[in-house]
Amino acid sequence: MVKDAIQDGLTAVEAQLRTIVTSDIQLLTDAGLHIITSGGKRVRPQLALLAYLAVGGRQLMDVIPIAAAVEMVHTATLVHDDINDHSLTRRGKITVHAKWGRTFALLAGDYLFTKVYELMAPYGAAYNVIMADACIKLVEGETLQAAAAKAGDMDRETYKTIISRKTASLFEAAARMGAMLGGGDEKTVAALGTYAYNLGLTFQIVDDILDIIGDPEEMGKPAGLDLAQNRGVMMAQNGGGIESTATAVAEAELPDDPIARMMARLRESGAVDIARLQAREMANRARTALDELPDSEARDEMLELVDLVMERNR
Ligand code: IPE
Ligand code: IPE
Ligand code: MG
Repeated sequence: MVKDAIQDGLTAVEAQLRTIVTSDIQLLTDAGLHIITSGGKRVRPQLALLAYLAVGGRQLMDVIPIAAAVEMVHTATLVHDDINDHSLTRRGKITVHAKWGRTFALLAGDYLFTKVYELMAPYGAAYNVIMADACIKLVEGETLQAAAAKAGDMDRETYKTIISRKTASLFEAAARMGAMLGGGDEKTVAALGTYAYNLGLTFQIVDDILDIIGDPEEMGKPAGLDLAQNRGVMMAQNGGGIESTATAVAEAELPDDPIARMMARLRESGAVDIARLQAREMANRARTALDELPDSEARDEMLELVDLVMERNR
């Protein structure tokens, strides 16, 4: 059963993550374990495992360090992202910078990033180039986002570039590396990359929708942060200016807090529906990419993952 294999694979990824963050500098171990053990959906390592299995790979344990490395990149970016976003909760727990302060959070993030070299070293150049490329894109995406938020010019085109770099590129890299290691031919590796890339776009649009309509308890992180910081899919719908948002809510019924006001307006404005349509379009592209693959249990799981991403509330 592919489901069981994925479960075993993810258990091995957890063990590897816990081992790799250990340092004789206790603070780094503590901060690393703090974020690693606080949950997380582990979507990216799952993609590496599924892609490996989808092309007929037979030694799942061979791909574990790649899956762990992808999750380490993601985890490091969360530690740094939460500093930039002034966010106090992540995965239902206090963020690293809120607990240890900004200096140690920067260093803990650097530490987690650097551990990726160690995990990736055995795989050689082709894999390391894919990983490096994804990391570069990710930083470019975060930079572009901060710049667009600062300038207040988050249009749809910019939004698409941002989410493709900051989120979809790592999804794509996870699947490509998994597929390559599993022995997939070029066409199949590309198809799995396209699948994961579009799944990543879907994932981020849904995440930005949840910033407006999600339950912070369920998500384990705050809502309304994108609006507070001039970014996200809803800003893109409105060309960076929230004021133009049509609203069916009477002014008097809106809450006093400005962010809560914007959220209430947006919920009524139809912007969420437009964003969901965009997410659905990307989800369809992800599904279509899998047409290139022969039927398999792993392929079925990948299709199911698209539905889970569309329906997720955390
Ligand atoms: C959060 O990613 C950042 C985004 C790309 C939206 P996840 O939603 O995968 O975070 P965890 O790992 O489950 O906490
Ligand atoms: C998280 O992005 C970091 C990256 C995708 C690189 P977001 O800021 O969009 O995600 P959350 O809402 O903090 O999880
Ligand atoms: Mg953030």
